[in-house]
Amino acid sequence: MEISEIENSPHAEGARRSEASSEAAPQARRLEAIARILADEEALWGPHRRHDPDERHFARLVRTDEYEAWLLTWTSEQGVSLHDHGGSSGVALVLEGELLEHATEIASQAPLRETRWPRGSAHAFGPGHVHDLRNAGTAPATSIHVYSPPLSTMTFYDHRAASYLKPVRVEVVERDDEGASSGRRRSIDRVLADARARLTRVTPERAALLRAGGGLLVDIRPSEQRAREGEIPGALLVERNVLEWRLDPASDHRLGVVTSYEQPIVIVCSEGYASSLAAASLQDLGLVNATDLAGGFRAWEAAGLPVRRCR
Ligand SMILES: [Fe+2]
Repeated sequence: MEISEIENSPHAEGARRSEASSEAAPQARRLEAIARILADEEALWGPHRRHDPDERHFARLVRTDEYEAWLLTWTSEQGVSLHDHGGSSGVALVLEGELLEHATEIASQAPLRETRWPRGSAHAFGPGHVHDLRNAGTAPATSIHVYSPPLSTMTFYDHRAASYLKPVRVEVVERDDEGASSGRRRSIDRVLADARARLTRVTPERAALLRAGGGLLVDIRPSEQRAREGEIPGALLVERNVLEWRLDPASDHRLGVVTSYEQPIVIVCSEGYASSLAAASLQDLGLVNATDLAGGFRAWEAAGLPVRRCR
């Protein structure tokens, strides 16, 4: 789609541009063009249009090496405090409602200027732009924001005086689409998948071989579960809540059998779910050969390997 076509699109109606965009800077025009193309593709952003009064909802629509685009939703009075875009340039296009912005440039730290951005308006900004945004109206607002290069960090500022910005925190923007789609949330399915992506999980037979070669087979099930299901003879019993302290080679509370960061360690739970998270935690300590038993104790038993019944 050519820019001339884009400017004739329904979302260009009544469009109002900031100074940066009216200067027709190629970057600003390009980002605005991308925003308007996406705006015309309601099938893309419509499913993410969710106005939640308890928490501002946003979703990444697309990400390339060059740019990324987000859909942001705002119920009345929802907003984001003063921040920059980590060196990215951007464009914000208002699809519905109206947004109120207070903005300045980091280099000048000039007093904040207030601008209302109505439906259909697009405002471009450069890498030094610092602003807050909120829905000052009563109707829900929705906007598409395009950033180039894709966001990496956002620094938030305390605005103590009209011309003074004090950084108060830096947020890292995740590259991962799912993780970023709702802030820092990740579902347990996702956390588990990420943990397992770091592990070379083992079968019961492989676990038995590793133990025979000096590795540790560590059963993290609670005692009542072991009593109910049975035990693996010779497995180390370490409750999950003390696992890292017992197996960290640098910990004063480590077990005597822990000899090195390279020692093979196989974590066992009942079915092989909690064990994946535990093994990933051990990897975080630098135990590079920590992993878990796929299928857990039940797989071990089903494989016909030795099991001891508890009385
Ligand atoms: Fe922003």
